[in-house]
Amino acid sequence: MSRRSEDYKADDIIPLSELDVSEGRRFQDDSIWGFFDRLRREDPVHYCKDSPHGPYWSVTKYRDIVAVDTNHKAFSSKQGVTIVDVPDKHWTQSFIKMGPPKHAEQRNTVSPIVGPESLTKLETLIRSRVRAILDGLPRNEAFNWVDMVSIELTTQMLATLFDFPFEDRRLLTYWSDVAVTTPKAGHAIDSWDKRSTILSECLDYFTKLWNERINAEPRLDLISLMAHSPATRHMKPSEFLGNLILLIVGGNDTTRNSITGGLLFMSQYPSELRKLADNPKLVSSAVSEIIRYQTPIAHMRRTAAVDSIVGGKQIRKGDKVVMWYISGNRDEEIIENANSFVIDRKNVRQHLSFGFGIHRCLGRHLAELQLRVLWEEILDARLEIEVVGEPERIASNFVHGYSALPVRIEA
Ligand code: HEM
Repeated sequence: MSRRSEDYKADDIIPLSELDVSEGRRFQDDSIWGFFDRLRREDPVHYCKDSPHGPYWSVTKYRDIVAVDTNHKAFSSKQGVTIVDVPDKHWTQSFIKMGPPKHAEQRNTVSPIVGPESLTKLETLIRSRVRAILDGLPRNEAFNWVDMVSIELTTQMLATLFDFPFEDRRLLTYWSDVAVTTPKAGHAIDSWDKRSTILSECLDYFTKLWNERINAEPRLDLISLMAHSPATRHMKPSEFLGNLILLIVGGNDTTRNSITGGLLFMSQYPSELRKLADNPKLVSSAVSEIIRYQTPIAHMRRTAAVDSIVGGKQIRKGDKVVMWYISGNRDEEIIENANSFVIDRKNVRQHLSFGFGIHRCLGRHLAELQLRVLWEEILDARLEIEVVGEPERIASNFVHGYSALPVRIEA
């Protein structure tokens, strides 16, 4: 069984000046926690002068992260939101990499899909899909929860948001996975060119949908909303692709990994699962705690637009600044007993997983809705889902998540 995060201690042998917390392997083997504990304690705003992504600042404490995230004038997302610098040739524009006023215009264009009216309709659909997925799961044999539940549910949702041909929905999962991959020699995606070739297939597919919808009556789906809005109607292909990737990754990896994380945490903390089963009204609170404890997006990056001071450190214009949400969410100064999973904790919604400021997650209420309905249905069906092996985690410092979680349901 996995060790809990508090079992890990930082490798104190590494001098702080040489510590690079962005190494993917630390996320893959789940050893990252101790390193962040150490940074929060000893050097909360830490400069790494040498990494595969160049020099960068790590902001690791809750309050400093909020200060950076809410100051978009001083800390801009225009040069990208991940620690990896995408080469110019492969750069795509999207509204998360924009500032006012264009950012708000494009964000407002797509926001009706996650507005209250739409969510009310979606709840009924999500519930019927959750029931069908849970009913169809194997009994008395091990299976991969990530594939059969987390990916399936979120990909079905994404297909609905885009009104994307349902039978092709796993293409969305594939493109999402490719989009968040940093090319590496010896891996399936071994060059930026290869990544761009695959993503151009995504663009081609969506361009066909766009061409159908721009000539049809406006409807409530993401493509139609963009095709009929003055803010997005004349996007260049690379901007269309950038926004597609933003919406696909936003709707996919994050919720997927919260669904998997939730099941894992409930199995690591059986008393919390009992608490929830005894009092199902705790479900919304449990969902917030799952999202905090998982922190599905480990970081967001900004670039300093002016000289400034963060946590007493001098940041210079042009510096790369990484907000480690995954660390701020374990900051004991703000969150009591932060390394434990406690579904009924005080101020459970006080977490950084959705970010802050003008780019605060657009889809957060939809994500919470999917998780809430899933847990309501698991409880209602009295499913006893046992985690029967170690989770496989992905080697990413951006998407904090899993490729497999073996589970078994007793009939
Ligand atoms: C932005 C996390 C679900 C769409 C963000 C940001 C984070 C985040 C950290 C950036 C915030 C910032 O820079 O301050 C999450 C998590 C989710 C989730 C943890 C699930 C548990 C979703 C879903 C959708 C979505 C379901 C789509 C339906 C977006 C979009 C943005 C965004 C479009 C960009 C907003 C902007 O630039 O104004 N999300 N997200 N997210 N998210 Fe989510």
